[in-house]
Amino acid sequence: MECVQLWAGERGVRIEPYGLDIPPELAALARSRLPQWAERIWVGNAIDWVPPQRFDFVRTGLEYVPRRRQPDLVRWLLDEVVAPGGRLIIGSGSEEKDQTRPGPSLEEEVAAWGFGIAGSLRRPHYHDARLEYRVFWIEA
Ligand SMILES: C[S@@+](CC[C@H](N)C(=O)[O-])C[C@H]1O[C@@H](n2cnc3c(N)ncnc32)[C@H](O)[C@@H]1O
Repeated sequence: MECVQLWAGERGVRIEPYGLDIPPELAALARSRLPQWAERIWVGNAIDWVPPQRFDFVRTGLEYVPRRRQPDLVRWLLDEVVAPGGRLIIGSGSEEKDQTRPGPSLEEEVAAWGFGIAGSLRRPHYHDARLEYRVFWIEA
């Protein structure tokens, strides 16, 4: 939460971050480090968490749930967590490049589930030339 606010601020964008995590201990640690945001750090499982409010930008990883539940996670977040007109951002972390990866990219998999990909970004991995950092998004 701190980093994303800092990085956005460096680019002239002001954001108000909110956080969700599964282990209560981790949320408690975050609240103790960031008391000014204690009320906006929640405990829950992203696949069925009912938020107290909707959010304009929601970032998730798909590895947070078993593979067979990943389409359900995307559907839930779009239907229940992202605000109308908002954006679900899926950060796949680092992925093997298209040229050497044997199967589809995560973005292609999500598109094959029937979700429209509105945009994507990629950039070289810092340490491994075979990989790249990738992120893509879906508009709610
Ligand atoms: C890469 S870490 C990010 C940690 C922290 N939010 C940060 O930005 O530094 C991913 C976090 O997602 C949490 N997580 C994994 N599966 C989850 C789920 N189904 N629902 C909510 N949080 C989950 C993990 O416990 C872990 O802390």
